[in-house]
Amino acid sequence: MKCKACRQPAVIDIPRHNAAFCADCFVRHCQEQVVRSIAAFDMMSRSDRVLVAVSGGKDSLALWDMLMDLGYQADGLYLGLGIGDYSGSSIGYVRSFAADRGATLVEVDIPAEFGFDIPTGAAAARRAPCSACGLSKRHLFNKAARDGGYDAVATGHNLDDEAAVLFGNVLRWDTAYLGRQLPVLPGTDGFARKVKPLVRLSERETAAYCVIKGIDYQVEECPQSAGNRHLGYKAALNDIEVRSPGSKAAFYFGFLERIAPLVAGVAEEERRDLHPCPECGSPTVADLCAFCALVAKATRGKLSGAADRTSG
Ligand code: AMP
Ligand code: FES
Ligand code: ZN
Repeated sequence: MKCKACRQPAVIDIPRHNAAFCADCFVRHCQEQVVRSIAAFDMMSRSDRVLVAVSGGKDSLALWDMLMDLGYQADGLYLGLGIGDYSGSSIGYVRSFAADRGATLVEVDIPAEFGFDIPTGAAAARRAPCSACGLSKRHLFNKAARDGGYDAVATGHNLDDEAAVLFGNVLRWDTAYLGRQLPVLPGTDGFARKVKPLVRLSERETAAYCVIKGIDYQVEECPQSAGNRHLGYKAALNDIEVRSPGSKAAFYFGFLERIAPLVAGVAEEERRDLHPCPECGSPTVADLCAFCALVAKATRGKLSGAADRTSG
């Protein structure tokens, strides 16, 4: 197997591109895919200040690394979710990467700042842990970006993630979600711009990128994601991809080209009902934003528990 670019021995093959690369050319290939996504979807410019949401996993650390190498002003944002040992070890990878690269890291710890951790907060609010986690991330990424005056928030969602989410949304024909499932969401109405520059890379590629660049990352998956629907969709799509390489990319990019414009209006309609949350000022369509509602439910037990103890 020879490198497609320089004919030296290859270290990785990419069946979807019918190509193989040596280590140096592979790093360049990953960067080119990111550059192509940023340009194709007009995600950001070099003068933008970007906040990269980093979990400690391969995707977001690879993204932060590439954006800095490409000359973007990229700071990191880590959210402490309070998920036991998993959160305890993931922060270590993020801090040591930031220290090695001399990069700026913003840290927000949910238990310390809001008084609950995701597993107990989710249980108190009778939500699935991944749902409480997802809404907290969306809210706090947006808040951190706006508080810090950043132009955009970048996340490490890759082609496998986006294809799996798309698969789920199509299975349910969820047109509101489909209308919002874009690699860039504009910054309007109290929302910071959101970008996903890794949509042209698979998770196998981001893992290889980290290994080649010597980036140490959290290999373990979140313990709460076991049995998660998306893992099933990913496995199904992986089966299809092995049989016909390129199917995932065709599915996702075909959607962006041909279907997303048709369903854009549904998401547009929802945005019309947005107003500031009375508690925190974030845009919401409900009385209270989903995060403030979660905080209220997650901390109510504790407050009344404390009250019980003092009165007893
Ligand atoms: P997930 O929702 O876990 O699939 O993660 C999707 C993306 O969200 C990651 O690629 C990161 O960019 C970001 N992310 C996930 N967890 C965290 C975290 N604890 N702190 C900051 N960013 C995160
Ligand atoms: Fe959010 Fe696992 S990282 S539930
Ligand atoms: Zn709120």
